[in-house]
Amino acid sequence: MNKDRNFDDIAHKFAKNIYSSDKGGIRQTIVWQDMETILAENNAKSEPLTVLDAGGGIGQVSQQIAKRGHSVTLCDISSEMLKLAKEAVEDNGLLPQYQFIHTAVQQIEQYNVGEVDILLFHAVMEWLDNPKEALDILLKQVKPGGYASIMFYNHHGLVLKNVICGNIPHVLDGMPHRKRFKLQPQKGLMPNDVYQWIEDAGYEIKGKSGIRSFHDYIGNMEYMGDYQIEDVLKLEEQLCRQEPYLSLGRYIHVWAKRK
Ligand SMILES: C[S@@+](CC[C@H](N)C(=O)[O-])C[C@H]1O[C@@H](n2cnc3c(N)ncnc32)[C@H](O)[C@@H]1O
Repeated sequence: MNKDRNFDDIAHKFAKNIYSSDKGGIRQTIVWQDMETILAENNAKSEPLTVLDAGGGIGQVSQQIAKRGHSVTLCDISSEMLKLAKEAVEDNGLLPQYQFIHTAVQQIEQYNVGEVDILLFHAVMEWLDNPKEALDILLKQVKPGGYASIMFYNHHGLVLKNVICGNIPHVLDGMPHRKRFKLQPQKGLMPNDVYQWIEDAGYEIKGKSGIRSFHDYIGNMEYMGDYQIEDVLKLEEQLCRQEPYLSLGRYIHVWAKRK
């Protein structure tokens, strides 16, 4: 039985809470900056690029890529998510460039997607029973010379967030998954594990960015310095690709080139 987290019951809530918030905006800005670099490195190719958006949800990032004329295959285990994705893709006039597959990423090989130029695997591994297995399968779907863009929930960010919120016993207990937080992933991943898995699969890591290295840690004290959300975004942009801030991101975006 598949123990991964199907989003059927939280698809609408997820779409509303995550995409249309400051958090979503920060993530979109940082990931898109990295994506611009990936697209620029692929600039020499005259054909439209092929993209696999694995566990794609509503396909927020892949739609932005599709707007540049590229072709996207989006797969998801949740039919509700796929329904929302199709509606959004249609609203944006991108349907001709999209193929939707209702499947677990672990079964993607059965659909003859072919090797793609760019794999997107964002915010999915932390919901999986066996993230490495899924990542290994997907990394084989990329052409030699192609790129993998992987975003995952960061264990270290979760520790820090819990400490700041005073959940010290929870941290000392090893942070077991709490079912009542439905939109919170089941576990954080260790960045060094993920980097190793990517390299072991024959990739060279080209870049890493912390996603929300500051935003989630700003306290709710009586006296706060004066700042706007735009200032937080500027700070994230300025420091998210350098240590130690990178490794404090609530998520980490890592992108790599297949040798
Ligand atoms: C947090 S959402 C991320 C969606 C999208 N990639 C994004 O970054 O916005 C996780 C998605 O993974 C999907 N999912 C979970 N397990 C999966 C699996 N084994 N195969 C395919 N999709 C899966 C869920 O249904 C959900 O749409």
